[in-house]
Amino acid sequence: MTDTIRPARVWLDARRERGALDRRLFGSFVEHLGRCVYTGIYEPGHPAADKHGFRRDVEELVDELGVTLVRYPGGNFVSGYRWEDGIGPREQRPRRLDLAWRSVETNQVGTDDFLAWAERNRMAPMMAVNLGTRGIQAAADLVEYCNLPAGTHWSDLRRQHGRETPYDVRLWCLGNEMDGRWQVGAKTATDYGRLAAEAGKAMKLVDPTLELVACGSSNHTMPTFGYWESEVLEHAWEVVDHISMHAYYEEVDGDRRSFLASGADMDSFIDGVAATIDAVAARKHSSKRIGIAFDEWNVWYQTRFNEEGLPRITEAGRLLEDDYNALDAVVVGDLLISLLNHADRVRIACQAQLVNVIAPIRTEPGGAAWRQPTFHPLAAVTAAARGVVLDTEVDCSTVATARYGEVPTVTAAATLDPETGRWSVFLTNRSAAPTVVHLEQRGLSLARVPSARTLTADAPSGSDPLFTATDVSPGPGDALSLVLPAESWTVLDLFN
Ligand code: AHR
Repeated sequence: MTDTIRPARVWLDARRERGALDRRLFGSFVEHLGRCVYTGIYEPGHPAADKHGFRRDVEELVDELGVTLVRYPGGNFVSGYRWEDGIGPREQRPRRLDLAWRSVETNQVGTDDFLAWAERNRMAPMMAVNLGTRGIQAAADLVEYCNLPAGTHWSDLRRQHGRETPYDVRLWCLGNEMDGRWQVGAKTATDYGRLAAEAGKAMKLVDPTLELVACGSSNHTMPTFGYWESEVLEHAWEVVDHISMHAYYEEVDGDRRSFLASGADMDSFIDGVAATIDAVAARKHSSKRIGIAFDEWNVWYQTRFNEEGLPRITEAGRLLEDDYNALDAVVVGDLLISLLNHADRVRIACQAQLVNVIAPIRTEPGGAAWRQPTFHPLAAVTAAARGVVLDTEVDCSTVATARYGEVPTVTAAATLDPETGRWSVFLTNRSAAPTVVHLEQRGLSLARVPSARTLTADAPSGSDPLFTATDVSPGPGDALSLVLPAESWTVLDLFN
């Protein structure tokens, strides 16, 4: 099908700020799932392993990806996790059966190993506590282990294990997807809301500086979506600081149009959760601003995974190892535009996951580490986006989709770094036809010729670099003009 598309107009205005860019928006996720940890980030004996057993080749790619924050240890895994299994001498750690992914968990990587790795790689940790099979005491103990300087059972044990100073972990998730029937220890909204309130209270009694994330719905197709957020916040409002969102997108039954419009779905999902937060705030006459932690988002060919049924029990087996293509990368880029455009509400986001499991980075045991196509849009945004997110206005044609109705063909997000004068603009063309964009900007006089690079959905998989240069030329009036190829994602750098 071809689209009839009129030129799009995009307005940028330095005076119209959507919000300061919280760099925690560029987070990732490491779960004890498949080969994310074992033979992913950790593989003693690998030629690239450091003295701690972690792969340096993977760390180099993580650094290039520019991830600022990393969530750990799950995911569904956390709902059956005994964190005490993963501390102390490695040879004494138990091999446990993990019910979430039907895997043998060797516990060779645990809290100390992960937190030291995150610290070495300059990423803030976002820890999750088990509110599935465990509860208040285990959660408070873990905070004590991580954050108290000394003089108590758990803080002294950490020192005994070789870590003198506290890790100072600020950000904590109160469980994971507790509304999901697949979750070990799933709960009703009321039961979970009460538990989150009490666990959070105890955790903040250990360390009042924590920032806590309550579980929102596992996704917006859950039958209790909306009610769940409202009821959980009703109970846990005083103690929590953020509520979580999760969303995964895939091309279903060859419906490429809808897949390319996944960002439109993310937009309305965020708007719905933000409205629910506001409704609870109004009901409570509260001026507290609860944020959104979009702590799992990505492209995931989940239907394929679900059809395969329960995995057989393995140790570090190949689970959820999706191979991505350039179309997936365009969608990931568009999802990043949605997140940036909600920077006033979404303070934290994690692309799930970091290595091997639906990940931008892949590895082979004993072998290479490499970038998947979905690596590139995230790396481009973390490198370019700085300062404040601007309120971008777009006037364009729409494209019809089976799942989401009419959606804009062009999406745009922009950031401005007041320190360097760098404007970065991110653009998606969701249509099957090339689209002319006229970019009009207020408050910008160009000192350098802008540069733009584009990735297109039809780029052959394995092509490197995935980006090609795109011409930017003077357009009508003061505008800059460029042609966005069909089904593409573009990064534009402008300098004041
Ligand atoms: O990221 C994979 C899984 O997706 C996580 O464990 C779970 O939280 C979500 O359903």
